Amino acid sequence: MIPNPCKIEGFFGRWDPEVEYFACASDVDPLSLRDLLELADADTRALWNGLELGYTETTGHPLLREAIADQYPETAATEVTVCAGGAVEALFLLAHTLLGPGDHAVVVWPAFESLHRIAPSLGATITGVELDADNGWRLDIDAVRKALQPNTRALFVNFPHNPTGALPSHAEFAELLAMAGDAGVTVVSDEVYRHLEYDDADTLPAACDLDERAVSVGVMSKAYALAGLRIGWFATRNPAITATARTLKDYTTVCSSAPAEILSLIALRAHDHLIERSRTIIKANLAHAESFFGSHPDTFAWAAPAAGMLAFPRLLLPVPVEDFVTDLVRDQRVLLLPGTVFDTTDNRFRVGLGRSALPQAFERMEEFLTARGH
Ligand SMILES: Cc1ncc(COP(=O)(O)O)c(C=O)c1O
Repeated sequence: MIPNPCKIEGFFGRWDPEVEYFACASDVDPLSLRDLLELADADTRALWNGLELGYTETTGHPLLREAIADQYPETAATEVTVCAGGAVEALFLLAHTLLGPGDHAVVVWPAFESLHRIAPSLGATITGVELDADNGWRLDIDAVRKALQPNTRALFVNFPHNPTGALPSHAEFAELLAMAGDAGVTVVSDEVYRHLEYDDADTLPAACDLDERAVSVGVMSKAYALAGLRIGWFATRNPAITATARTLKDYTTVCSSAPAEILSLIALRAHDHLIERSRTIIKANLAHAESFFGSHPDTFAWAAPAAGMLAFPRLLLPVPVEDFVTDLVRDQRVLLLPGTVFDTTDNRFRVGLGRSALPQAFERMEEFLTARGH
């Protein structure tokens, strides 16, 4: 069965041509090819210059897998699988690997659509466990435990979280993984915003390192600002999951694009530089967001994200958030993402802190509010 349509992609597809400021983007200002190539070392420069555009290794270029595995001290390069279709491909393969008719999965709520829309198309049911908006978007691990059923096969989590910026403590994350693992439930940990914490000490260990039963999903799109490469991956010390997901991958993308693999390798070897670049943009925007939303306390309920590049404030005006967002984009060509695409009903919208033009978007929003007497 085909999954229900992806609301986020439908929404962006509708407004993309009319938008000047993507104030809800989930990526950082993308890097140019020229800027990325300047980061190449002698080794990767030679790989790039001599690149042949044939099929590549189905599990990913060995050097790329090594560079990815460098982020996972307990997980080997052989336990990493590169995906040509970003993190969405990894999540698609993992849902198909873990779930079938009659199975059940738990997902931290709200959730990016790949984490919950695929399961029902496979005949599985889903229970969402809500983050607590009144308590810093905290995850109640007891509520997750209570949501588990005898047929629960997978727990989908995503920290730093899209759209709230939630991040558990190290102790909470370890407890969550141990609890699920002991219950025989595979944790699929979507870590695409990992490394975008505001303090290194907040970076959680990867799920695949913490627990040999869990799977970590990563991507070049977010922290490295290279969404156009479409390179993603999953990593796990669970050989059965790796084997099944790789079999499925032979029917989705087979192998990755050769240029995208080498460009990803260049970026991963320049990890510190690129993470610093992304964090600098995000931290500057966070200050602008605090100031803009803070100056409109009757219009918005703002809470700073704990990590990552996304926030999920609430619109306090007696207007449905979809109408507010539509009027804003029509008047000012500034795009926010209404919470309704996440199936939430409390008038929230997503703000993205990764685009350096965000202050100009706030100026447009200021004009928009002034014109309406707010
Ligand atoms: C939580 C989460 N997971 C996965 C993805 C997919 O990333 P990509 O489209 O680069 O594969 C996104 C993208 O927005 C995301 O927010």
